[in-house]
Amino acid sequence: MICFSAVLLVGAPYLPTLGRQVKAVLELADLQSGDTLLELGCGDGKVLIAAARQGINVVGYELNPLLVILSWLRTRRYRKQVRIIWGDFWQKPWPPAEAIFVFLLPKYMSKLNKKNYAIY
Ligand SMILES: C[S@@+](CC[C@H](N)C(=O)[O-])C[C@H]1O[C@@H](n2cnc3c(N)ncnc32)[C@H](O)[C@@H]1O
Repeated sequence: MICFSAVLLVGAPYLPTLGRQVKAVLELADLQSGDTLLELGCGDGKVLIAAARQGINVVGYELNPLLVILSWLRTRRYRKQVRIIWGDFWQKPWPPAEAIFVFLLPKYMSKLNKKNYAIY
């Protein structure tokens, strides 16, 4: 419980992305095999898996250690394409990427808009 509520200090709580939202995001991003997608707050790894299945390289950041373990386990088949980083994405370096996916609270979106990335 502490892991899930502590996240509220720096970002959004865990809420799984719906399957149709994942599909819409990947269509909108229009990434090619070999491109890189960052997910800031990768939760249970659902988006990472969907992207990896399309040949996309993905880097997911997650603060909640329980979700890091869950997403790491769920993405083990795609180990070469998926990297999961445990920690606060505001405090971590971001590798070059073609797009970023976030599912956060609106107040964090304006902060992200100042970065020079295509954010979905
Ligand atoms: C709305 S959920 C998105 C979940 C994910 N898209 C999925 O489908 O499982 C937001 C996630 O971002 C994580 N998060 C929030 N702020 C964070 C931060 N500053 N650094 C890393 N992860 C963060 C939360 O722990 C939560 O899992």
